[in-house]
Amino acid sequence: MDCSPQGNESVFQGRDSDLQQRASQVRESRKTHGLDGLTGDLAFIILHTEIENQQAAVEELLRYTGYELEDAFESEDERTCVLKCPDSADVLVRCRLKGDNPFLAINRFPKSAHVPNTRLETLVFTCEDVQRYWEIQRGRGIAFLTKGPLDLGSYSFIQTTASIYTGNSVGFVQWHDKAGGYRNGRCRTLDWKFETGPTPWKKKIGTLDHIATRVKAEHRDPAILEFMNLSSYDFEFAIYVPDLNSITNVARLVRARFAQVFTSGIAINSSGAGTGPTEMFVKNYGARVHHMAFLTDDITAVDAALRQSGLGFLSDLVGSEAEGLRQSFSAPSPNTLLVNEYICRYGDFKGFFTRQNVTQLTLATGKQ
Ligand SMILES: [Fe+2]
Repeated sequence: MDCSPQGNESVFQGRDSDLQQRASQVRESRKTHGLDGLTGDLAFIILHTEIENQQAAVEELLRYTGYELEDAFESEDERTCVLKCPDSADVLVRCRLKGDNPFLAINRFPKSAHVPNTRLETLVFTCEDVQRYWEIQRGRGIAFLTKGPLDLGSYSFIQTTASIYTGNSVGFVQWHDKAGGYRNGRCRTLDWKFETGPTPWKKKIGTLDHIATRVKAEHRDPAILEFMNLSSYDFEFAIYVPDLNSITNVARLVRARFAQVFTSGIAINSSGAGTGPTEMFVKNYGARVHHMAFLTDDITAVDAALRQSGLGFLSDLVGSEAEGLRQSFSAPSPNTLLVNEYICRYGDFKGFFTRQNVTQLTLATGKQ
């Protein structure tokens, strides 16, 4: 495929109109099968670490995001820390204490094999009726990790097997009582204390705005369509950065606070070698979540304070108030392999991203 920066717009528009057409078929299928309105916004994410890195992973999140530790407990199989931030999806930082890891095979890549149990594995969305969801989706050929929905005490839960395109599992939760309780009677409390030191920036960092997953160039369309088939989200727009062989694609749901982003290469190199930072990331780490983006209203102060506190960064603070958007990328955490994005949208900025920022941030990830 011609990937030169010049004369590409019509090629890209052609690609996107194909995708839009198939997206519209997915919307139709969701409607026909009774999936419309059955699932909603992101409720929580499940982030797995190595056993020895779990506390450090939690400590980093407490230090560098607006999240607070609400609960820490263990069952026979796993150890879980629950982190919460007002009006935001919860973050469960978890490690397996026994049993097989169904994600193990897709975690072994040149730069991730040293932490083979580390992955943001599951994005869990709200669901009005998990049993009905499972019955419908099983009929559509969707593969799940368990034989049926699990009754986990305070909620019902089902999750898909890891996607062959993204490596992500998509989960669904139906709360029985109040939302956000993760314990059952068999859990033992962990008396864990975390020392984060002074974090004066913490109150200025808010909700989880989006999560970005990196996939191979050839998996861009199937990854987006698969996610649409599983959720109520729609593909909204794509920003092409031909110079870096990268596309940033945004899927959103009306009235949802959370957006799902997919980043892929544009061209498939004939030698099979990745070109550009996006393809290289997938080659080095496998398809997986690249970053979690947290909203802040005062990014100038937050970014400066975090840098001063010792947090490493891949990028400078990019964008400007005049353009409506400023963002920065932290260095990846050794405990989670995840980058934190800090993002501020100013005033009446209507666009979700700007091409200039996407370009600069994508370029910065070449350092990974
Ligand atoms: Fe982002």
